[in-house]
Amino acid sequence: MMEDLAMHILEILMNSIHACAKNIKFIVQDSDLDDKIVMQVEDDGKGMTEEQVQRVSSPFMTGRSTRKVGLGVAFLKGLTEQCNGEFLVTSKVGEGTTVTASVQKSFIDTPPMGNLGEIMMECIQADESIDYLFEYKTDKNSFLFDTKEIKKELDGVSLLEPSILLWIKDYINEQISLLKEDAG
Ligand SMILES: Nc1ncnc2c1ncn2[C@@H]1O[C@H](COP(=O)(O)OP(=O)(O)OP(=O)(O)O)[C@@H](O)[C@H]1O
Ligand SMILES: [Mg+2]
Repeated sequence: MMEDLAMHILEILMNSIHACAKNIKFIVQDSDLDDKIVMQVEDDGKGMTEEQVQRVSSPFMTGRSTRKVGLGVAFLKGLTEQCNGEFLVTSKVGEGTTVTASVQKSFIDTPPMGNLGEIMMECIQADESIDYLFEYKTDKNSFLFDTKEIKKELDGVSLLEPSILLWIKDYINEQISLLKEDAG
């Protein structure tokens, strides 16, 4: 069904969007030295109570009325556990939520990273008014993408212009490829 990490992370990012976040920080740490990929999504949305946090990674907690089970968080938790990784949710009502998920890079069942440019594009499309900070780090280098900066550069032109959205997707993927070449 969801066979890459990016599709799972998109679910987590969408939860932040649904929680009315104004700022979403998404960090990927891709480390050969640690043989680990750590993905973290931090939002300033409505947050969760301690009890909600306890239950969030069980498939029976959902805010949906159309479907009985919410799967976004539970799926990612299951995946990290299968891939020798760790999973952590911390949250505070009125302050925000941080989801951290890691996987072992060299583990045979760890899915490929997938298209991070695409998921950032989808998030921006879902809500342009949110500011997204995306960072991709390797052992040697890092790349930062900040919609606040882009908005300043665009000077009033919408991020939702199809040519801008496509540029964002390609730009992010290109920069990640460059980092990976440099790291390997
Ligand atoms: N970033 C977040 N901020 C606040 N609440 C959250 C956040 N992420 C998840 N939650 C809460 O945890 C519940 C479960 O999330 P999950 O993604 O597993 O299911 P869902 O979003 O309800 O349904 P689905 O993802 O299948 O559409 C959400 O309904 C929401 O109440
Ligand atoms: Mg969800």
